[in-house]
Amino acid sequence: MKTIGVFLIGVSAAVVVAGQAARTVWDGVYTDAQAARGKTLYVNHCAVCHQEGLQGADLAPALKGEEFLLQWSDRTMFELIDRVATTMPQDAPGTLTPQENADIVAYVLQVNKLPAGAGELPSDAATLKAIAITKQAAAR
Ligand code: HEC
Repeated sequence: MKTIGVFLIGVSAAVVVAGQAARTVWDGVYTDAQAARGKTLYVNHCAVCHQEGLQGADLAPALKGEEFLLQWSDRTMFELIDRVATTMPQDAPGTLTPQENADIVAYVLQVNKLPAGAGELPSDAATLKAIAITKQAAAR
């Protein structure tokens, strides 16, 4: 009985996430061209701390891999971009434009092997709130 209860809670949580967000990061939410712009920005503004390979160093955490995705999992793209926009680059927060932040996060998604698509990652809050970050593609 206990196992069934846990299973049901898991299912309802997944339904809630699906209800809030129409798309996930597995649905192709950025373009390759955008990620290429983001790479240049990342190298200029982020790599000094997070390293060129996004593996992180010292206090700056990795921006790729299992742990990174797990950390942001079940939150929205708005939260991730807002985190970057308001606290990064840590030595000069708020100095990049919303477009630049979206481009950089597009590059972060590409390095994390999330698929590119036909449309760019936007910078408006409403659309970003409708994109869920999930560790795995939803079964459809
Ligand atoms: C001067 C060093 C420095 C620079 C430059 C920098 N960061 Fe950071 N970043 C950090 C440190 C240290 C942390 C962890 C402490 C904190 O959250 O403030 C962090 C945390 C983060 C996090 C949260 C990671 C997590 O999983 O919790 C993200 C996302 C991030 N940085 C993205 C960026 C991006 C994108 C840029 C470039 C626009 C950038 N950072 C530039 C030092 C830096």
